[in-house]
Amino acid sequence: MNYLKCILGLLLGLLSITVCAKIQTILPINTQDTSMVYGVNESNKLQFLYYGKRLNSFDNFSELHMVNKPDTNRTFQSPAIPTFGADGFMNEPMLRVTHADGGMSTDLVYVGHQVNNQDNNVSVMKVKLRDPNYPFFVTLKITAYLKENIVSQQTIIEHSEKGDIELQSFYSGYLALKSQAYHLTHFHGAWAGEMKLSEEKLTQGIKSIESKKGVRTTQTENSSFLLSLGQTSTEDTGEVIGGALAWSGNYKINFEVDEYKNLNLLAGMNPFASQYTLASNDIFETPALILSYSAQGQGKISRNFHSWARRYSLMHGDQERPIVLNSWEGAYFSFDQATITEMIDDAADLGVEMFVLDDGWFGNKYPRNSDKAGLGDWQVNQSKLPNGINFLAEHANKKGLQFGIWIEPEMVNQDSELAKNHPDWIVQRPGRKLLEWRNQLSLDLSNPDVQAYVYSVVDDLMQSVPNIAYIKWDANRHIENIGSNYLAKDKQSHFWIDYTKGLYSVYEKIRAKYPNLLMQACASGGGRLDFGSLAYHDEFWASDNTDPMARVSLQYATNLIYPAIATGSHISTSPNHQTKQPSSLKFRADVAMTGRLGMELLQDENRTFIKKALLTYKNIRKIIQFGDLYRMHTPIDGSGWTSLAYVGSEDAVMFLFSTRHHDRGIYPTVKLKGLDAKANYRITELNKGDKTCWVDQKVFSGEYLMNVGLNFDVRFAYDSLVLKLTKVN
Ligand code: DGJ
Repeated sequence: MNYLKCILGLLLGLLSITVCAKIQTILPINTQDTSMVYGVNESNKLQFLYYGKRLNSFDNFSELHMVNKPDTNRTFQSPAIPTFGADGFMNEPMLRVTHADGGMSTDLVYVGHQVNNQDNNVSVMKVKLRDPNYPFFVTLKITAYLKENIVSQQTIIEHSEKGDIELQSFYSGYLALKSQAYHLTHFHGAWAGEMKLSEEKLTQGIKSIESKKGVRTTQTENSSFLLSLGQTSTEDTGEVIGGALAWSGNYKINFEVDEYKNLNLLAGMNPFASQYTLASNDIFETPALILSYSAQGQGKISRNFHSWARRYSLMHGDQERPIVLNSWEGAYFSFDQATITEMIDDAADLGVEMFVLDDGWFGNKYPRNSDKAGLGDWQVNQSKLPNGINFLAEHANKKGLQFGIWIEPEMVNQDSELAKNHPDWIVQRPGRKLLEWRNQLSLDLSNPDVQAYVYSVVDDLMQSVPNIAYIKWDANRHIENIGSNYLAKDKQSHFWIDYTKGLYSVYEKIRAKYPNLLMQACASGGGRLDFGSLAYHDEFWASDNTDPMARVSLQYATNLIYPAIATGSHISTSPNHQTKQPSSLKFRADVAMTGRLGMELLQDENRTFIKKALLTYKNIRKIIQFGDLYRMHTPIDGSGWTSLAYVGSEDAVMFLFSTRHHDRGIYPTVKLKGLDAKANYRITELNKGDKTCWVDQKVFSGEYLMNVGLNFDVRFAYDSLVLKLTKVN
């Protein structure tokens, strides 16, 4: 019967209505709640068939009924790797190559596949494809993380053609989606205003989010997104795909709605000005596109990404993070040994666990007393710190604190010994004016000598001060005036990719030698926030904007994808360099506690409150750093409140912030999520202000808390509440 239907379909197909195609080999990849399906059709082509809710049976994929595209004898079959030229694919291709003989088209057919179960949670499927006309091969690598509901896509390109080939486009991942409508949530911004969330309905054409900045690539647009299928999604409803690219260089993510309302999603290294020559038998590997699908809204996507990041991506994802005090906002460039030891003493007294000496500690011939000089000269400034860094690190250790230090090893001021000694290491095109940004220039990390130098900055520091426990790695400009003195003239377009690969090779060496070192990724704030960089870092500095009200929205957007354990979130003075609006110490502490709590220097504040808050954080940090994040009110739901909870197996911590003034009688009802409905919870108010909340020390059932909810008198802008919920018998 089915066979007859197929024949009928085929006949109709000739009339350009529907066609029936056979899928000979079905290749499903499952996680607990999702499936991604590929298949090899009768023409030996690898097709992308499905990404969505977990399926139990894949048999029906063996027969595909498709509508023919009008005016063509092409169907809507979606290749797994759309190539340019030979396959009738008219949208933006994933792969575009100029072959050794000058041929510009690429066709890929299935060669074989293998599935390797690394353990009972991770499996890797590799599908090998080749061009029938050339010894040109692409391997599609799909990694599935069962419990975390994460799937990653990437490709490996190699060939043995007679001569070099040119890679023109080389995206990592591709999804072919079909829905009534598509709504994209993405995160743009600027310095001190990163991760501003925009949601927009996609219409025909290409919407791209991308960076061409080379360094600091996520400062103005993050390489992650949420894509809602059909209706817009909410925290708990709707079909959503979350994606994030694990690459710290130029990237591009295209959302192309074609004339038939199909969405083609491509993500990878940005092909812009990046044509890449690949010699015979060399291998080109693209970074991973990390994906998650949820049929129950955005909250689940966040929890999937967070637990995956802690387990598989982030450095030391299973270890608690210390409370940091960073010297930057308290001292900027003007300090001496006494200022720093006083800060350390003060931090120790408050209960801080890690002191981090920020910018300004180095340079002698060209002292780093402002951002105008010294960058590149990583010797301790003798007049500011006559007893050296060792003295400070030991002082911190004696006071019970660990010691960390700031570096920016990819950059140089013209007023530095490094710039005078190695002008050829600076990114520049001879004959063009040097374009400074924050008075600095970038070093050419495509050059192995520069890679060795950048590594030596860390290695020398660690050798001379072995008790450095933490490095804040900053990068305060993007690349301009592109040009490498190292790369050959026909390889200048390799610069963008080789820079990032060079950076990663330095990180690799550092991690091999110093596996326990804590590292923070900073690039003028959140300019290097991606899973490529987080694979080598423990955390990131989310923004130089430490105003708590701004942070409520910024950290909400950040934590849609990236986990709280890695989100550097500091209490700072108020008003501070980012705002004139004062806010209470309680509000600042409450907001900062939603991430990896730290501090900038606080003056004339209630020390008793700070000490207690730090102690409180130590008691709850396991829940915040490893718990599941649930959001009840969000900064974008129009309510004027933000409420969230981190939920562990035995306890939870709930935060509520009023982000604007609400009229008398208007109050929030918080219905918690993720609790055990059958358990009872005792509530304890934390970081108490003047009044005690009515729920303090009361016991409620999980069922009541999640269905009836609690009402709170949190009505004025900057009002906030923190509650701990502990299971009781
Ligand atoms: C930018 C960072 O985001 C700041 O925290 C601070 O480290 C400065 N750079 C130092 O120059």
